[in-house]
Amino acid sequence: MSQTQTRIRLGAIIQGPSGNMSAWRHPDAISDASINVAYVTALAQQAERAKFDFLFVADGLYINAKSIPHFLNRFEPVTLLSALALVTQKIGLVATLSTSYSEPFTVARQFASLDQLSGGRAGWNVVTSPLEGSAKNFSRDQHPEHSERYRIASEYLQVTKGLWDSWEEGAFVRNKHSGEFFAPEKLHTLNHKGHYFSVQGPLNVGRSPQGRPVIFQAGASEAGKAFAAETADAIYTRQETPELARAFREDVRRQLVARGRNADDIRVFQGISVIIGDDSADAERRYQQTAQLVTPEKALEYLGRYFEHYDFSQHELDAPFPDIGDLGQNSFRSTTDTIKKEAYDRGLTLRQTALEAATPRPTFSGTAAQVADGLEQWFTRGAADGFIVRGGTPTAFDDFVDQVIPILQQRGLYRYDYEGNTLREQLGLSEPENQFVVKAEERRVG
Ligand SMILES: Cc1cc2nc3c(=O)[nH]c(=O)nc-3n(C[C@H](O)[C@H](O)[C@H](O)COP(=O)(O)O)c2cc1C
Repeated sequence: MSQTQTRIRLGAIIQGPSGNMSAWRHPDAISDASINVAYVTALAQQAERAKFDFLFVADGLYINAKSIPHFLNRFEPVTLLSALALVTQKIGLVATLSTSYSEPFTVARQFASLDQLSGGRAGWNVVTSPLEGSAKNFSRDQHPEHSERYRIASEYLQVTKGLWDSWEEGAFVRNKHSGEFFAPEKLHTLNHKGHYFSVQGPLNVGRSPQGRPVIFQAGASEAGKAFAAETADAIYTRQETPELARAFREDVRRQLVARGRNADDIRVFQGISVIIGDDSADAERRYQQTAQLVTPEKALEYLGRYFEHYDFSQHELDAPFPDIGDLGQNSFRSTTDTIKKEAYDRGLTLRQTALEAATPRPTFSGTAAQVADGLEQWFTRGAADGFIVRGGTPTAFDDFVDQVIPILQQRGLYRYDYEGNTLREQLGLSEPENQFVVKAEERRVG
């Protein structure tokens, strides 16, 4: 299956200084980027000038002293994007928030508010929280098991979608003369009573300017893909090769059809990192300069975080990657499965495994034209509908904007200006109908 979309769509990651975990030490880095409001404002406005479809903010709910430095002190995503909504006009705003450690009413309200604040530009990256330690921050004894997290997420999304349909468009008539503030027939109360949640509604925010916020999903296991096929408008994933990426996208699209949805109802975004140089050697030099900032000790800490903060320093660094059993199954399952498989299949040592994880080579590097070629190939071969871009060094995102985007535009693969106002319009996604209106119509007809 080749590409069905006509142009590449792009998101920009906001996550500390671009590059690896130690990029804050790079001479060009703004070392407090993860908590610097002037920096994130400038980045958001730069991405908007370059006509990016959306900004994307990842998140986590547990840290310890060994966490990645820019995770230790960073903005909460919805709060950050609410601030950025007021200094941007068109760019979408996608915040990560966990269904394992929050309440649907609060979250539906937060995203409905972000949507109103931004004129319909909100997106929610639904995650289920991989880190077991999160339980300790939310008065819980136990982190929910992987498959249960997805069952919770599924019911959670039914509730939030129901709450976002509380009010029909135009419900608030505010007729000063008659005294009618809202039209009662346009108000709907959810009355959800399920396995995990009991939520009456209605929501105290009116209908979204884009019907409802755009639902992203990140989580690439079978359960994750099934959840996306059931409920998401977009997926954030990371595959190593165009073949794997294409197989992933095809699989998800097939699963949508199996559930009665249209394959084109979803946008699959590949998370990529880029380094642009004057030539390949220059790009490699830039990669090495950033990679060398990560010590083996830090790389082990980085690797350990994926495996429930396992202490890898107890193993011999230059021996084969140790047998750690099922560790990681209840946290970053799809990621830890890949790390283990690569290490065992290729006979990597612990040092090599840790450094590959902590100092990943950019997905695309070389001259701007070479990077554009790579994106074009992935896109036209159906490996992705778009890309969520991260600079592989602190200045690589600037280079991408200044050098790669103009090439994509000249090739007709990227637009010169925004085509609509809402995030749904940018992504070419249709506006969902209000479920209560649909049900009433079905009752009337049948
Ligand atoms: C590409 C990708 C990005 C993710 N981003 C986040 C994130 O920002 N915050 C978070 O709590 N979990 C994140 N997750 C974790 C998932 O929500 C999930 O808890 C974990 O990966 C296990 O699900 P999986 O095995 O289906 O991938 C991400 C997962 C993937 C694959």
